[in-house]
Amino acid sequence: MKKAIVYYSYSGHTKRIIDMIKEKIDADVFEIKPKEPYSTNYDEVVYLGQDEVNRNYLREIEDININLDNYDTIILATPVWWYTFAPVVHTLLEKYDLKNKRVMPIITNGGWLGHTVEDIKKYSPNVTNELILKFDGDKLVTDSSAIDKFIEEANK
Ligand SMILES: Cc1cc2nc3c(=O)[nH]c(=O)nc-3n(C[C@H](O)[C@H](O)[C@H](O)COP(=O)(O)O)c2cc1C
Repeated sequence: MKKAIVYYSYSGHTKRIIDMIKEKIDADVFEIKPKEPYSTNYDEVVYLGQDEVNRNYLREIEDININLDNYDTIILATPVWWYTFAPVVHTLLEKYDLKNKRVMPIITNGGWLGHTVEDIKKYSPNVTNELILKFDGDKLVTDSSAIDKFIEEANK
């Protein structure tokens, strides 16, 4: 059985982390993309995102053609949007059944994680080794040893 990395990144932080780890973990990588891209205006997206999260809006995503039967571990990476996962990740979680998968979350944020981990746990009883990465602007402030530890756990 194989591992899959499934990630979403709006402003690039999460993608940066995935680019760092993907060479070190034997996994297929899938990017979640909204069907209709978000504006490039960050502040606009912060406000739109608040509305989407509050309404539990399942923003449509491009088909990622993942056959979950091939994977037993899903590394699920998302930025925090208004104290939870991004709406496109919500869509993915509703669309694909992760109940029987080991889910290893990577959660990038600015320091307000909120209930993101608990919300992911609603979709799988087997959520382990969450990697919480705090950014200050574009700078990663969490010690990178946490990433090394995560890679080690993923490869066990
Ligand atoms: C719409 C939106 C909402 C956000 N809400 C939060 C939040 O609730 N808590 C937090 O710590 N950071 C929040 N952030 C900051 C991002 O989680 C953080 O910058 C993250 O690393 C971005 O990842 P990305 O560059 O891969 O998109 C928010 C950012 C956006 C765009």
